[in-house]
Amino acid sequence: MAFASVLRATPRLAVRAAPQMARTAGRRGFASGPSETKSNSNLLYGALGAAVIGGGLYFYARPDPNDARTVKDAASPQEVDYQAVYNAIADSLDDDNYDDGSYGPVLVRLAWHASGTYDKNTGNGGSNGATMRFAPEANHGANAGLEHARNHLEPIKKKFPQITYSDLWTLAGVCAVQELGGPYIPWRAGRKDGNVENCTPDGRLPDGDKGADHIRKIFYRMGFNDNEIVALSGAHALGRCHIDRSGFDGPWQYAPTTFSNEYFRLLFEEQWQERKWKGPPQYENKSDHSLMMLRTDMALSTDKEFKPYAQKYAKDEDAFFSDFSKAFSKLIHLGVPTAQLSEPVPLKKLEDQTPAPASASA
Ligand code: HEM
Repeated sequence: MAFASVLRATPRLAVRAAPQMARTAGRRGFASGPSETKSNSNLLYGALGAAVIGGGLYFYARPDPNDARTVKDAASPQEVDYQAVYNAIADSLDDDNYDDGSYGPVLVRLAWHASGTYDKNTGNGGSNGATMRFAPEANHGANAGLEHARNHLEPIKKKFPQITYSDLWTLAGVCAVQELGGPYIPWRAGRKDGNVENCTPDGRLPDGDKGADHIRKIFYRMGFNDNEIVALSGAHALGRCHIDRSGFDGPWQYAPTTFSNEYFRLLFEEQWQERKWKGPPQYENKSDHSLMMLRTDMALSTDKEFKPYAQKYAKDEDAFFSDFSKAFSKLIHLGVPTAQLSEPVPLKKLEDQTPAPASASA
């Protein structure tokens, strides 16, 4: 049977990690066969792991086949140096020939769309599976243009073949947020790649031309509340809309490769009017017509529950960063059974690594 869970920890954490893994395994009631044997074998994995490992610690346990979130016939995660993967992605972000000079924004969107398919009622969808690799989901209208992100990550996947796509895509989102100036995002490894049957139905991601009711319907289905919805929407500080992808056009702020609270500040400080054009309904700023907002963005400044959070973030970037970090971390772990996940993997920004990694200091 395929292994389902990987737990990575530093040697210092090894002794603490073993009993925790055994507890988790017991709680989920793993796999086939008598339960005594199962939890004993997991304990054994734990004891062996704790005793043996020197450089990094990995535990493997079995999935619960009755868990709706279990990805069938999936590729299992294996031992990976995640900081090395992070550094390789970080080094690849800048490209003068792409968009505003960085692949970061589209990588954040990839991580979000890979995760935002989660349905808390059935437990399916979410970042486990990386099902956007397959035609039905890759061709969903909401995912238009994300091949740029997926293709960009292919050389990294080749360099680190042990990482699953589902871990790679979410890690890339974390890397992009952090390297573009955003907060640290807690990230755990252990997602597994599914197959075409795990693809989610179309229509699970939000439409930009709708209002607050639609936003709530989509995000409540994932298990988010109003505060988290507003915090997550602040990711529109990054990147832009592309006519040939979504049909919408333009960036939300003047520095679209810098993660900040500018999206919220401009939402309130600029005046917005409907753009008169042949494209789908969107707003433009009155002062120079170079920025845009979707209807869903505008709803954050008009809906009486959303507005106070958006106002708070416009004034207080620290509050935004703190709430965004938690909500984005929650997003990219949606749909992954807890037993599959590792301990949080520390992923340092390039600028915080000493000595600086070789490629970054070159
Ligand atoms: C109501 C919710 C949302 C709607 C309707 C929405 C809609 C859109 C649309 C239409 C685009 C333009 C795509 C293109 O033409 O390339 C876009 C881009 C983007 N979205 Fe959202 N989005 C929402 C929430 C989010 C969330 C929760 C995140 C992340 C946490 C996010 C991150 C991004 C990023 C980073 C881009 C820029 C991509 C690029 O520059 O290529 N969005 N979004």
